[in-house]
Amino acid sequence: MWMCVKNRTRLSAPRPRGGRRSMPRTEALLADFPKTWHLEGGTKVTVRPMGREDRAKVAAFFQSLPEGDLRALKDNVRDPWIIDQWVQQLNYDRVLPLLAEVDGRVIADASLHRRREGWRRHLGGVRVAVDPAYRQKGLASLLIDELIDIATREGLERLYAEIPGENAAAIETFRKRGFEEVARFERNLIDLAGTYHDLVVLHLDLAPLH
Ligand SMILES: CC(C)(COP(=O)(O)OP(=O)(O)OC[C@H]1O[C@@H](n2cnc3c(N)ncnc32)[C@H](O)[C@@H]1OP(=O)(O)O)[C@@H](O)C(=O)NCCC(=O)NCCS
Repeated sequence: MWMCVKNRTRLSAPRPRGGRRSMPRTEALLADFPKTWHLEGGTKVTVRPMGREDRAKVAAFFQSLPEGDLRALKDNVRDPWIIDQWVQQLNYDRVLPLLAEVDGRVIADASLHRRREGWRRHLGGVRVAVDPAYRQKGLASLLIDELIDIATREGLERLYAEIPGENAAAIETFRKRGFEEVARFERNLIDLAGTYHDLVVLHLDLAPLH
């Protein structure tokens, strides 16, 4: 049987071992990617899940972020080893990274992080970073909304974001998507330069917690 595969992203993440499911749950929810969005100002953006072949593009995106942004990100994304780990361990059931591209260049990365087992299995973590040239055009909001939709369809009950306390832009972005600040832990983060920062935790409940 012939299938039309034009315009469809090849999802090259590995399948989980053990054969409990014929297809990872998250992968089954990604059939409608890639998607095309138009940002405020008209820029056309393509959004799709990251694949193994995106390693160089993703590394270039994070290399291009200004020094100050690195403080906002949990991992040292300028370390090629970190990106290698993301690519080698790609498993959409564990981490789902969405990439936004303009003319084939990555301009944003947003990801949903969760565990299928254990006492945090009802939670999902959300992270997002946008190229400075494309900020304040609604892109992070669109990406967060997309991840909220996927998380809801997956049956997650709560999303959380963890952000350095002085990162007003990120806190505001998540607040405007409905997240609420639930905790602030003093001097709970230490950046690459050795400076301490408060950690702000924001929650968005997707379903009533029983
Ligand atoms: C935080 C970040 C992701 C926001 O991306 P963005 O694409 O500019 O966000 P949006 O355009 O969707 O803006 C969302 C809302 O927050 C507001 N906002 C965004 N940046 C802002 C800023 N610097 N100051 C004030 N408000 C800001 C916008 O005005 C918008 O509000 P609106 O919906 O009423 O217009 C981006 O600044 C970034 O990549 N920062 C570095 C990485 C980071 O901090 N990530 C968060 C850690 S998970």
